[in-house]
Amino acid sequence: MPSTVLVGAQWGDEGKGKITDLIAKDYDYVVRYQGGNNAGHTVVHAGKTLALHLMPSGVMYEHAVPVIGNGVVVDPGVLVTEMAMLSAEGIDCSKLKISCDAHVIMPYHKDLDGADEKRLGSNQIGTTKRGIGPCYQDKAARKGIRVQDLLDEKIFRLKVETALAQKNPILEKIYNIHTYTVDEICEEYLPYAKILKPYMDETAQLLNEALAQGKNILFEGAQGTLLDIDHGTYPYVTSSSCCAGGAATGTGVGPVAISKVLGIQKAYVTRVGGGPFPTEQRSAEEGAEAEEAEVGDTLCSVGHEYGVTTGRRRRCGWFDAVIARYAAQVNGLTDIALTKLDVLSAFDTIKVCVAYECEGTRYEYFPMQQSVLFHAKPIYEELPGWKGEDISGCRSFDELPKNTQHYVEYLEGLAGVPMSIISVGPDHDQTIMRGWSSC
Ligand code: IMP
Repeated sequence: MPSTVLVGAQWGDEGKGKITDLIAKDYDYVVRYQGGNNAGHTVVHAGKTLALHLMPSGVMYEHAVPVIGNGVVVDPGVLVTEMAMLSAEGIDCSKLKISCDAHVIMPYHKDLDGADEKRLGSNQIGTTKRGIGPCYQDKAARKGIRVQDLLDEKIFRLKVETALAQKNPILEKIYNIHTYTVDEICEEYLPYAKILKPYMDETAQLLNEALAQGKNILFEGAQGTLLDIDHGTYPYVTSSSCCAGGAATGTGVGPVAISKVLGIQKAYVTRVGGGPFPTEQRSAEEGAEAEEAEVGDTLCSVGHEYGVTTGRRRRCGWFDAVIARYAAQVNGLTDIALTKLDVLSAFDTIKVCVAYECEGTRYEYFPMQQSVLFHAKPIYEELPGWKGEDISGCRSFDELPKNTQHYVEYLEGLAGVPMSIISVGPDHDQTIMRGWSSC
């Protein structure tokens, strides 16, 4: 039956939350498959803006079952707090299912994340310091603690003891920060176990049975293609498989069950944290000329480009078709949702990066070597804008100004994937449906 992966096609923060909200009504299950509370999106409920970091957004829909898959890393304190916040707002969390195989973020993961970033100095990745990387490290090293370990106090204590025998010397001797006792951690985590126990499940079986019964699943990606541990701008990435392929490994559903892959792309590009960003429009403090700084500042202020999780100002730049083509390939995109098109109404003309140039070579596709990406100069095409025309009220493609239509068609041609959803404002109804169907 129709299942869709919704995936960020840039460096995250493409507006996945709004598009998920928009299409979730067509799905019986909404499933997170990777990442943890490094993600963040805002939802509006009864006129109030709520921030979700770990809870699948399916929780907002009465008909949908929200599932945290095995590929997610769970900070139980964050999950319990988020559930309490949602319940206080009258949102029912009782249908939530948490995979017993998901890994647990422990207090020392958060400490190590922060301490390691400090150690890297100017080479920092700019992580969210939520313990994501260290938790996935333990998973890959087969030393992790899983959600199911919380079910048995004896096993949990034993695993914490084994972990601390390795972590405490690292915390103390390498980073010179505080260590933990088994009792300390058990005191904090075992009460969470009690709260979360009723929600723990064998979610791979649950989802496969649902598919067999003809139910629809929406796999809700967090972060984005270029933050993927394999396909992203390594090492400036997160530690999970954000791309569409991660939906299969992160949930235990076979890839043939996935019929659509919807990539979310902003009409320009942003990223947070360190790493290469060819079309970045830097600020004056970073040495940019007035024109570049003005573009960056305008994108940031008009687009409200500040992180939901960290509050950090996002780096902003023009649309990059090299990234768009790459994302289309590595995710197998069947559709694109183009978001925040209205933000570009602020410009007289709009630049689009069609390729890169580095040491005399033109790159139409993502360069093989990271060092090329660091030194790549964008080759731009400049398109006429639609400044002064408010497109936020347009509800069909034909209502858009001719230059806006041309911009969308131009990007579509470069990406090679139909842009079947276009977002022209933050509200649900500020959307142009241009051929999207969930099945
Ligand atoms: P981590 O996921 O906290 O380890 O951070 C690794 C990199 O991914 C950093 O550059 C973060 O800024 C970035 N990152 C993590 N989560 C998000 C997100 O939800 N949106 C955008 N960037 C993110």
